[in-house]
Amino acid sequence: MILITGGAGFIGANFVLDWLAGCDEVIVNLDKLTYAGNLDSLKSVINDKRHVFVQGDIGDSHRIKQLLTQYQPRAVVNFAAESHVDRSIHGPGDFIQTNIVGTFHLLESIRGYWNELNSGSKREFRFLHVSTDEVYGSLAQEDPAFCETNAYQPNSPYSASKAASDHLVRAYHHTYGLPVLTTNCSNNYGPFHFPEKLIPLIIVNALSGKALPVYGDGQQIRDWLYVKDHCSALRQVLAYGQPGETYNIGGWNEQANLDIVHTVCNLLDEFRPRTDGRKYSEQITFVTDRPGHDRRYAIDARKIEQELGWKPAETFASGIRKTVQWYLDNPEWVANVQSGAYRDWVAKHYATGENNDA
Ligand code: NAD
Ligand code: DAU
Repeated sequence: MILITGGAGFIGANFVLDWLAGCDEVIVNLDKLTYAGNLDSLKSVINDKRHVFVQGDIGDSHRIKQLLTQYQPRAVVNFAAESHVDRSIHGPGDFIQTNIVGTFHLLESIRGYWNELNSGSKREFRFLHVSTDEVYGSLAQEDPAFCETNAYQPNSPYSASKAASDHLVRAYHHTYGLPVLTTNCSNNYGPFHFPEKLIPLIIVNALSGKALPVYGDGQQIRDWLYVKDHCSALRQVLAYGQPGETYNIGGWNEQANLDIVHTVCNLLDEFRPRTDGRKYSEQITFVTDRPGHDRRYAIDARKIEQELGWKPAETFASGIRKTVQWYLDNPEWVANVQSGAYRDWVAKHYATGENNDA
């Protein structure tokens, strides 16, 4: 079996669902259930014997050691993190605690477990650390896309905390020989995405007649990948990646934020036109920019493509259609996720000036 952390979050939940759709290997899923953890996303597998959900913190060494001893996983995949850049700007403390200190405790527990394995299991064991392209910093328009050899230049408390965790993971391989794999992926989108992030926020706000907040001039560029393609890349890295190596994952799909927002609006115009006959794009509102906002990310995915034979299955055109349709088909999931904690965040973050009706 495998143990994953953060499997009630956006990518983790998609990973669990895809894993169980593709094989019968048991998956033990440890998640703290912060505001971002949502068991609703796992409804279809919550009574499945192949999925064991455990509420807990990656920083709780006692709990982790107990789980490792009880389940003897052949691999651990670490999704657990505080993941929202804007929240890291408002309050970095939780990011330091989970992304850095939590990852350290997790690594220590795993090192202890791994050391006690017999030589065959020790050789086969893998720790896969799921990280982000944001560790590389911001690109100028003419710069080549991020390669695995780029220097780390994180700019936000979020990306700095992820960079620190990547360094710890690397050190545990170099110093102790722990068989680690690290992936650095670009922006994901798809089902079960928490509506504090750009694409689901735009869909949810558009449908409720609210402003569609675009930071600054909306010309910041992100490289979007359908979440299920990220999950297939992770399965490929887990199966065939070389211990100690890092793999960039991306969809060769750079787009400016404003273009993304227009695409979502156009799809909503097609699938669920406004009752007043006007266009959703009329709800677009330019708001105060994110402090330290990275201008451009782009992933050079040649290493994982050439060495591990991975390619995304979705184009952006097909993936975004599926995503918008999924939100239209799942209003209950959206309603449940918009808990008190989420509303408090929206009120706080968009409270000033022109952002206040987002
Ligand atoms: P998310 O915020 O949706 O989910 C994070 C999950 O981790 C939640 O279920 C939360 O309850 C859990 N968690 C938080 N702190 C925990 C702790 N201390 N112990 C146990 N569980 C804890 O995040 P996501 O978007 O699914 O991202 C998953 C991972 O992928 C993160 O490490 C993130 O940095 C990375 N990543 C995300 C993207 C993206 O576009 N979303 C892209 C590249 C990499
Ligand atoms: O690049 C990978 C990263 O992508 C992951 O590591 C992060 O966990 C994930 O949250 C994501 O980070 P971003 O900051 O790029 O995603 P977000 O959806 O918050 O923002 C995408 C872009 O849209 C970014 O340039 C900021 C902008 N934006 C965002 C929000 C929430 C807006 O213009 N308006 C908004 O209201």
